[in-house]
Amino acid sequence: MADPISLSSGVVALMTFTLQSSVVLYKAIDSYRSHPKNVRDLKDELEALAGVLQALSETAEKHKEIDLTALKLPLLRCGKACHEFEEALAKCSSRSGGLKTSFRDWAKLKYMGDGIDEFRRMLAGYKATIVIALAHANLQQSSLTIESLDKYKSMIQDTTTDLEDHLQNVDDKLKSTFLQAADRSNEDAVLVRQMQEERSSTQQCLVICAQLSAYISQIQPTLAANGARRSADARAAGVAAVAEQITADGLEGCKDALGIASKRLEEHLISIVDRLMATSKKTLSSPEETANLDILHSEWQTARLCIDLCSKANESVMKINLNVFENLKGEAEVLQFFASTTGRVVHAKDIFLGAKGVQFGGQLSDATVQQICRDFSPSARMAAMGSETEMITPAADGTGTSQFLDRYGRGFKLIPKPAQDDKGISPGQQGEQAKKTG
Ligand SMILES: *[C@@H]1O[C@H](CO)[C@@H](O)[C@H](O)[C@H]1NC(C)=O
Repeated sequence: MADPISLSSGVVALMTFTLQSSVVLYKAIDSYRSHPKNVRDLKDELEALAGVLQALSETAEKHKEIDLTALKLPLLRCGKACHEFEEALAKCSSRSGGLKTSFRDWAKLKYMGDGIDEFRRMLAGYKATIVIALAHANLQQSSLTIESLDKYKSMIQDTTTDLEDHLQNVDDKLKSTFLQAADRSNEDAVLVRQMQEERSSTQQCLVICAQLSAYISQIQPTLAANGARRSADARAAGVAAVAEQITADGLEGCKDALGIASKRLEEHLISIVDRLMATSKKTLSSPEETANLDILHSEWQTARLCIDLCSKANESVMKINLNVFENLKGEAEVLQFFASTTGRVVHAKDIFLGAKGVQFGGQLSDATVQQICRDFSPSARMAAMGSETEMITPAADGTGTSQFLDRYGRGFKLIPKPAQDDKGISPGQQGEQAKKTG
């Protein structure tokens, strides 16, 4: 390679590097004759990775405004890992005679101390992180359905679990390398052990901060909902929902403080690991040992970053609230809306109308909603002086007069659908219903 690729390279250059490395590794594996199951699985994974990288390049090309710098480290690590694995394969094969036609010692092939399956899972983790980050960047533009959102959520969940397992594995190896190095040195032994302990504690403290912060995020919406429910009544009675507001402020303050603590812990962790790396390298004798430690270190950093990317994607996906209305049963005379005033997707399914109920669905303006609420309020009904039936049923056939006539026009009669319960409307009829009333 002419230009050594590094984190200071551009995202596009890194994508190209990673794609090339994965293709080169694929071809290298393919050039051997024997392909046991786990090797075929690895080939499939490499193919899928190449597909994702291709899609990533195309998206980056089309949407230059999308910021993908967070993917630089995973891309670099992934590309390097493919390259290093290819070298390990060449070495392993030359030890067993160097003949590609007769090589069968796949079980002896090790990378980072593990076998082919572990390497494949590592690649799968990179691939999933790229997919999640890409979807995250696209989230606002893409047209989401409930189904795709659910799929995306469970993908984030699964990927996080896998990445955490992988991080644990790498972390254990890092720890044992540090401690081995400590054993070999007289002067640094105690210091390395203490630093290793400090590293573990720092990681634990980070987990505590993250857990507490997640718990706060979890209760915040409930609190806000309580406040909103109370405030309408409370305002009418001249009291605002003060208790909820005080608590909400306090919780937000806690989250900020936890964020600051986490940031300081991160910095502390990085400096401890840097010192551990430097001290351990002094006692490692062979360049191979040093290289292996460097690989573990970058893999440790990358896995943590990937988990962080997933967590951020998770946070924003949890914030998307599609307006979902399902399986609603209208009370006899209730006024129902399954609508959005903000242009959000409205998803309506299995909605039933009560005997004298009124429903409005779809996209409505805020003013329309308010006007409808006024018109259908109990006092408006009283003022109309007529029977409720007259209020609710528009003068569809042109006979009789009602308040509807001035406000909404005459309306028209819906064509009855035989399969339909005449008390209910299906989502497919929302449009007609809206036309009738709005
Ligand atoms: C995603 O967010 C939800 C709600 O805050 C949380 O329960 C879940 O553990 C998170 N999942 C991941 C993978 O971070």
